[in-house]
Amino acid sequence: MFSFDVDQSNKPALYADLLAAVDAVTQDEPDAIANMANVAALIWEFVPHLNWAGFYRMVDGELVLGPFQGKAACIRIPVGRGVCGAAAHARATQLVKDVHAFPGHIACDAASASEIVVPLMHEGQLLGVLDLDSPNAARFDEEDQAGLEAVCARLAPRLSK
Ligand code: SME
Repeated sequence: MFSFDVDQSNKPALYADLLAAVDAVTQDEPDAIANMANVAALIWEFVPHLNWAGFYRMVDGELVLGPFQGKAACIRIPVGRGVCGAAAHARATQLVKDVHAFPGHIACDAASASEIVVPLMHEGQLLGVLDLDSPNAARFDEEDQAGLEAVCARLAPRLSK
């Protein structure tokens, strides 16, 4: 069993604690699905004001739904489509303050108002993306981006099986 004290009052501390939890839970495990499942659950537990948190994996050239928390979501996303596809295409984080203003946004949950998608890169390969949705407008900022990019950098080498 894993149990964590989550202090949501201070964003840098929250992301430092999240990274430590991700590190502890994934460090001895190479299975990609197990590690993505636990990281989705940790993000859901640590990060407030989310309605979806999870992964899409690169499978045969398209993004395929992976472990997540939240409502059932669209299963396949072509590279270049939606916020996830844009992050995969650019291999760069997409920080979207208003999803309704993002051309081609894919609404898996009508409650989503803002979104951040971080690519999962390892040794020059795109493994997938981490996607967080919020019902709050402009929920994510540069501190969230830095914290989630650090999580992805720690996780990506631990998705080898
Ligand atoms: N909104 C995403 C689709 C995935 S769901 O939010 C879980 C997008 O535009 O790519």
